[in-house]
Amino acid sequence: MKPDPTNTPEVAGRSPALAQAVAAPLTRAAIFLVATLNPGSENRATLLSFCGDLAALVRAMEFRDLEGGLSSVVGFGSDAWDHLFGQPRPAELHVFREIRSGARHAVSTPGDLLFHIRAKRMDLCFELATQIMARLGNAVSPVDEVHGFRYFDERDLLGFVDGTENPRGAAVADAVLVGDEDTEFDGGSYVIVQKYLHDLGAWNALTTEAQERIIGRTKLSDIELDDSVKPTSAHNALTTIVEDGKEVKILRDNMPFGRPAHGEFGTYFIGYSRSPRTIEQMIENMFIGRPPGNYDRLLDFSRAVTGNLFFVPSATFLENVTEGQTQPAVAESPAAPAAVEPSPSIPSVREGSLRIGSLKGDVPHE
Ligand code: HEM
Repeated sequence: MKPDPTNTPEVAGRSPALAQAVAAPLTRAAIFLVATLNPGSENRATLLSFCGDLAALVRAMEFRDLEGGLSSVVGFGSDAWDHLFGQPRPAELHVFREIRSGARHAVSTPGDLLFHIRAKRMDLCFELATQIMARLGNAVSPVDEVHGFRYFDERDLLGFVDGTENPRGAAVADAVLVGDEDTEFDGGSYVIVQKYLHDLGAWNALTTEAQERIIGRTKLSDIELDDSVKPTSAHNALTTIVEDGKEVKILRDNMPFGRPAHGEFGTYFIGYSRSPRTIEQMIENMFIGRPPGNYDRLLDFSRAVTGNLFFVPSATFLENVTEGQTQPAVAESPAAPAAVEPSPSIPSVREGSLRIGSLKGDVPHE
């Protein structure tokens, strides 16, 4: 990966580790690829050797269109981390915690690897995804693949501008890059993804004013509603986290996707953060409510069909991974933290992760 000064923590005067292209600018196209790692030492070796080569692969592709803005980020799930790298492990990496509250369900679904591929043009994303999968071959099994596109002026399919309140400039590194709190993993980042499907018919039956109260901003002009009219359940109210009097930001790069002929209209949520706790708190506020019951009405029209947490190590970490990396002494990860409201009906992710092949067709590809 080409060193991009805006992506390096050095900019914020923090760390010598070079971050992956987490902070790459919003692009017109993206591919989100989630896969599981197949068992077996040969597959582990394939993955490890791939880690060191990914940057060169992206460079080769990028050079074919220098204006294309191609970038790629790879993240690893909790079980995959233990299997591939063992100790030390990122302090806050764990399996995504499902949440059930009323009719709302933040599912936790299998996934060992995430590729977030971005470019100004879909053909570049497509080519890189093709090369990555050719390189990984049978070492991985795809779980979910979403091709996202930019919709008019940065809007989601609900018609609202999405991404306005993202941090900018130096605030980005501060929001997304791990620093002194976990020195072995500085320059890394946590990323949570959730694939949402919308009931667009029901949403479009609402008045624009009702939609605006749900989102907390005006639809056409994207202006934040005044606190005197904005409900406490508004999406942008529930996703505002303040700690010690300071707002804690995350970096989002949501993308619309869909298949109109199939009635499929979705938003692929992707949020990067230096601690997963911030995004988890937002999800709890949305699904359970703040206070409980005062939930995000967006969820009356949108349901999450996937949910994963990954750690994105620094580019420096990836470059130093070697194929011959010692097999971790303990391949099992620590016990998964309890779900906020555990559901017996949903298969455990710990069963799904690294259980090769069985995922094909199991996980919604809606
Ligand atoms: C159905 C999926 C979602 C849609 C369509 C959606 C859409 C939006 C829109 C239109 C805004 C207002 C403009 C902006 O500042 O970007 C917004 C803000 C925001 N969303 Fe979402 N969002 C979704 C899911 C999520 C999730 C799952 C999270 C976090 C876990 C989240 C976190 C945020 C944050 C932090 C803001 C900015 C709040 C502020 O500071 O004003 N969103 N979202």
